[in-house]
Amino acid sequence: MDSWYFPRLELADKYFKILELGISSNIAIIAPRRKGKTLFVLQDVSTLARKRNFIPVYASLWQNINAPHEGLILALEEAIAAMDKKISINRLLKTKIKKTSLGNELIGKVEVEFADNPQKPSNKDLILLDQLLSKLQEKAKNKTIILMIDEVQHLATSPHFNSLTHALRTMLDKRLGKVKAIFIGSSRHFMSLLFNESQSPFYHFVEMVPFPDLGEGFLDFIAVNLQERHNIAVSQKSLAQAFAAVDQSPYWMMKVVSHMVTFAGSLKESLGFVLQLIEAAEGFDSIKKKMKPIDYIVFDALSSEKSPFSKELLDKIERETKIRGIYSNVQRSLRRLIEQNLISQVEKGKYRIEKPGFKRYLTEQEHI
Ligand SMILES: Nc1ncnc2c1ncn2[C@@H]1O[C@H](COP(=O)(O)OP(=O)(O)O)[C@@H](O)[C@H]1O
Ligand SMILES: [Mg+2]
Repeated sequence: MDSWYFPRLELADKYFKILELGISSNIAIIAPRRKGKTLFVLQDVSTLARKRNFIPVYASLWQNINAPHEGLILALEEAIAAMDKKISINRLLKTKIKKTSLGNELIGKVEVEFADNPQKPSNKDLILLDQLLSKLQEKAKNKTIILMIDEVQHLATSPHFNSLTHALRTMLDKRLGKVKAIFIGSSRHFMSLLFNESQSPFYHFVEMVPFPDLGEGFLDFIAVNLQERHNIAVSQKSLAQAFAAVDQSPYWMMKVVSHMVTFAGSLKESLGFVLQLIEAAEGFDSIKKKMKPIDYIVFDALSSEKSPFSKELLDKIERETKIRGIYSNVQRSLRRLIEQNLISQVEKGKYRIEKPGFKRYLTEQEHI
């Protein structure tokens, strides 16, 4: 369903204003997985970049999950090669768009999100990185390079990646804004470690910009396409309900749409099918097995934006689990939830849910 992309050029335009007005040369966007970040930078940011005399270079730090520097090196080498052969950067981006769709089928499980054998880049690698960027700058002549670095939270997941983080900062700082960067990440917890901790090399380095959920425009776009291409009529309201049920994820929404088109099912049937798919894809069952009874209670409180330390909740823990309803037990539970990437701590005492759909799953399983 390649042609089903709903563009968001106004949002991309906002980002360029920040970069071009010199408010900041480095911006970061954070949103949970499957919200459309990668496609947005590959499609909309890249489209505008080219119109505005920028050269977009996309790198994913997950290219090699154990050696994130490799993704950067490869991206720069590819961009240089593309310019040498004068084949369009456009083609390069198209290949990446295809890869994104394939990659999306695999993510979600904890096992593929963390390095199992993290490797420190050698000094040679880091020097190469800097040289490649200089080389690309030369070739770019009067154009400005914009690096789009995806899965950047990965840098904060292992101390082995610290030297790369340092090198990246230095590499960009010393170019005094001549090379721009957009960092894209998905875990608020790790992004916050990366950007808000005073000992991190990325501290005070980027401007966080909002990446809003898709909304009515996207749903209109789906309704019109379903009608015009497939003669399927659905009301705005039921589309909005389905979109809410998949936690505003365009990935799952498009799965609903594609199921409707392929099987000529009703919206309700297709949604039911996709909700099952979400459970399997996110490995909810295995996540659930790792949780302790207190974790359900704490997770539930956070899902409803309640404090996990309230007297009411501590009492509930005391009553309904075998452990004591005390602060330290809640703290341990929070740590477990963070480690599983179920929640993130955004600031002191403030948490956000990272696994949309999980609460619904637990509710259905009558755990909470
Ligand atoms: N603007 C959009 N219009 C239509 N579908 C979209 C849009 N953005 C994302 N999608 C769908 O969602 C999927 C996930 O998008 P992706 O950019 O990979 O998310 P993220 O990087 O946030 O995990 C895409 O493969 C595509 O099917
Ligand atoms: Mg992505």
